[in-house]
Amino acid sequence: MRNKVIAGNWKMNHSPIDTRNFFERFNGLVADSNNEIILCVPYIDVAAALESTHNTNVKIGTQNLNHEVSGALTGDVSVKMLEDIGIKYSIIGHSERRQFHHETDDFVNLKIKAAFDHDIIPILCVGETLYERELGIAREKIIIQIRKDLEDLPANYARQIIIAYEPIWAIGTGKTASKEDANEACKLIRDEIKKMYGTEIADEIRILYGGSVKPTNAVELFDMPDIDGGLVGGASLEPDSFAKIVNFDK
Ligand code: 13P
Repeated sequence: MRNKVIAGNWKMNHSPIDTRNFFERFNGLVADSNNEIILCVPYIDVAAALESTHNTNVKIGTQNLNHEVSGALTGDVSVKMLEDIGIKYSIIGHSERRQFHHETDDFVNLKIKAAFDHDIIPILCVGETLYERELGIAREKIIIQIRKDLEDLPANYARQIIIAYEPIWAIGTGKTASKEDANEACKLIRDEIKKMYGTEIADEIRILYGGSVKPTNAVELFDMPDIDGGLVGGASLEPDSFAKIVNFDK
């Protein structure tokens, strides 16, 4: 039985003060949850978030990392810096980084390997654009991303990865993939993992759905057999709304 993961992605929202206020309310609302709860916050909020969630069941992640340990990379934060302050999760390859920061699959692949080397679990994002969906090449796009992003990743790392299927047309648009379509894409990813790593690892990996997840649609999505939880943007910004999603099974 795979444990559900409910991860939030705050994107470029909330200050450290907002962060402390958020967790003051949120921690108590989810204290009884058996689901794995991760909040991926902006770098500037990491210290406040780690402090506010100390000794709770809420884990903190980042939204990106640089795969180099150190160097002349102005404005970047290294995987080693994150490891040193106790970060255990990071989103990698989010479509907004691929689109606005021109991150390629080769780059995503380097980041995934570096994350594991530094004891950080990547939450890898994949998914098709509306144009690719309309052209009928969504499946091919997803398979290519999985193959390239996980290229040469050892099995002991692969079994721990969290993958989020996020159709780009559903992100921040209020349009959610139907539960059947979302499940089909998550199953496609699982089948590809099976081809690459075998049944045992494919059965173990958590595959999430992301794209306009809200308290009103979380239950139907997360009850699908191949959807192991969600990566939530807008609805993770308010403690009550995100707690309702985390507590979808209550
Ligand atoms: P929304 O939930 O705001 O659509 O964002 C999804 C997302 O991009 C999470 O990474």
